[in-house]
Formats: sequence, structure tokens, C-alpha cells
Amino acid sequence: MALLETTGLTASYGDFQALFGVDITVGIGETIAIIGANGAGKTTLMRSISGVLANAAGSILYRDEPIGALPAPDILARGIAMVPEGRKLFPSLSVEENLLIGRYGRKVDGPWTLDSIFALFPILKERRHNPSTALSGGQQQMVAIGRALMSNPEVLLCDEISLGLAPVVVRDIYAAFPRIRETGASIVIVEQDIAQALKVADRVYCMMEGRVTLSGAAADLSRDDIHKAYFGTEHHELA
Ligand SMILES: Nc1ncnc2c1ncn2[C@@H]1O[C@H](COP(=O)(O)OP(=O)(O)OP(=O)(O)O)[C@@H](O)[C@H]1O
Ligand SMILES: [Mg+2]
Repeated sequence: MALLETTGLTASYGDFQALFGVDITVGIGETIAIIGANGAGKTTLMRSISGVLANAAGSILYRDEPIGALPAPDILARGIAMVPEGRKLFPSLSVEENLLIGRYGRKVDGPWTLDSIFALFPILKERRHNPSTALSGGQQQMVAIGRALMSNPEVLLCDEISLGLAPVVVRDIYAAFPRIRETGASIVIVEQDIAQALKVADRVYCMMEGRVTLSGAAADLSRDDIHKAYFGTEHHELA
């Protein structure tokens, strides 16, 4: 059963149309990766689902209920949390305060508390009283992920969490994902690092110019298929 499903999703910025009928489904406990080049529409898709971008048309169903018209706070309250592109931490607040902000939008008991976030990313415990601006890029990304987890989400949307980070740091961050999956959450990862996406995801969607150009199980996609979908114009759909 699909937990989250978009059908014919379109979105525009003024006169500029950025999404042209995007269909994706996310199952319970499933990890999905959305890949695609700069400007493909990945962030627009994430912002449409999370309600940050309000002008999306088409259908977004969550637990079989339409959520496309709901404002962002309501979507978070229902259990869809986003780790936004560029992290968007509160620079004047400490690490711990940034994490606690994640509780306000959805006060639901679950596996994620300050303590379990600190167990997931121990460096954040050491740095809990530092301003978020004093942290490295990778540590800031951990705070952004932790903040989203503090709402005990059922769906975690992650937009380019590895962007600009050294490979060893990316590895540390992705090392947390098996634990996040264990909680039963569904995860949607936007990722330009295709190898990383294939490693972590059950299924992959490739987008180009506002459309899905390839979708299938990560294990079934060849490098060739992905290359064509990423840069070319052909549409492939794998069973
Ligand atoms: N605020 C905006 N106003 C106008 N156009 C925008 C805006 N944000 C994005 N766009 C355009 O919409 C298209 C899709 O952008 P989007 O940010 O969704 O792509 P993306 O796949 O996330 O790219 P990236 O990998 O660079 O993050 C691009 O052509 C972009 O220029
Ligand atoms: Mg983006």
C-alpha cells in the first residue's frame, strides 16, 4: 500500500512551470531516492509535498487522504518532515535549541528524543551548547536531520544532504540511515550522488526538466539506463 502518492503533480514559479505531471509513490517503511541534474525539479517536488510551495496542482495523497491543499504546518503535524536543501538552521540558536525546535511542529512520542538523536550523532551531544554556526558543514547537516527526526515523522524528506560534504562525512551521515529505517519511517532522499542513492534506496526515480524519466528498483537499474534518464530524453519504466 502507498503511504504517500503524487499523481499528475504540477508546480510553477510565476509563469515558469517546474513540474509537469509527476507520479511517485512511497510505501510504508520504504526508502526512495530522487535523482536528477541541477534544475530537474527535485526540490520543487519536495517543497510541493511538504506544503512549502502552495501552488502545486494534481493530487497528493497521504494515507489515502488528499493533502495537496494543506499548509506546511498541517503536513508536518500529520507526520511528513523535511530536511530542507541548505539545512536552514537557526544560526543564533544552539545545537540543542535547533533540535528542540523540531518538537514544536509535531509533539508525538516515538523513538526520537534529544537522547536518541545524541546517540545517533554523538558529536552533537559534545557540541550541544555551541551555536549551530560553530559547527562543520557535516555536523550542521546532522542537526538538520536530527531536527526533522524530533517530530517522530512517518515520512522523512531529505533534500541533498550530501551536497558539498567530503566523502568521509557523507559516509558518517548515511551510516545513520539504517537506524532511521528501523523505526519504520519511510524516507525520501534527493541525491545527486547516484552511487549513494542506489546504495541507500529500495527504489529510484530519476527526474529531468520537471518530469520523471526513469523509475524502478535500485537493484534493477543499469548505469546505462540511469545515464540516459539523467541526461537524455528517453523514458524507461522498469517493472
Ligand atoms: N524560486 C524560484 N523562482 C523561479 N524559478 C525557480 C525557483 N526555484 C526553482 N526554480 C526553477 O525551477 C526549476 C526546478 O528547480 P529545483 O530547485 O526544483 O531543481 P532541483 O532539481 O532541486 O535542482 P538542484 O539540484 O540544483 O537543487 C529550475 O529550472 C529552477 O531554475
Ligand atoms: Mg534542489
